[in-house]
Amino acid sequence: MSNNIVVAIDGYSSCGKSTLAKALAKKLHFIYVDSGAMYRAVTLYFLRNNIDLNNHQQIVDALAHIHLNFHSRDYETHITLNDEEVSDEIRLMPVSENVSTVSAIHEVRVEMVKQQQRMGKSKNIVMDGRDIGTAVFPNASVKIFMTADPYVRAERRYKELVVKNPDISLEEVFENLAHRDYQDTTRKESPLVRAKDAIILDNTNLTPDEQLAFALAKVNQD
Ligand code: DC
Repeated sequence: MSNNIVVAIDGYSSCGKSTLAKALAKKLHFIYVDSGAMYRAVTLYFLRNNIDLNNHQQIVDALAHIHLNFHSRDYETHITLNDEEVSDEIRLMPVSENVSTVSAIHEVRVEMVKQQQRMGKSKNIVMDGRDIGTAVFPNASVKIFMTADPYVRAERRYKELVVKNPDISLEEVFENLAHRDYQDTTRKESPLVRAKDAIILDNTNLTPDEQLAFALAKVNQD
């Protein structure tokens, strides 16, 4: 029996899951896994290769050609898609606009969940996403469900994106987030829902340090 620790952090888009997950992993010397980056990398591959999202066979064939790897030397997400570093490209709008559709595809989820479960088998990890505490690790040691005011979330994301993409508008970012929230919570396959045993962390008015203290207290108490 394995007795490694898995901390599952789920929640809405852009509510600071990865900031908290990274800080927590660093503090605890755990491995950090950004599961959203995996869905983003698959989306990038599908876009580049014009995969028809309604064609089951094309999707299955494409998935067989996708090899993802994390290199988390500094607790940042460094992900490679077939040995190419794609960490920046997966954050750009073409991927953001299509990732909810791709991540709702059954075959994609089955493959990603399998890979994620493998990563948590023998190592202590912090993984963030949408279904980590419900579908990927229903027995996770600690489950945190994060949320924040949608306008605050859009502003935070806008500030990050505008550095690399000065043409972007706050409205565009807000709409993209609202659309993703809708798709993530209403999709048939593993929708975003709080696991019954997950503690809620609303960080609208919390600093990163306050969030870290909250999460550490939870980990230490379990
Ligand atoms: O966390 P993020 O915004 O980078 O995630 C990108 C998309 O991937 C998001 O719209 C929902 C999807 N996702 C998912 O369906 N399941 C996960 N465990 C993580 C992300």
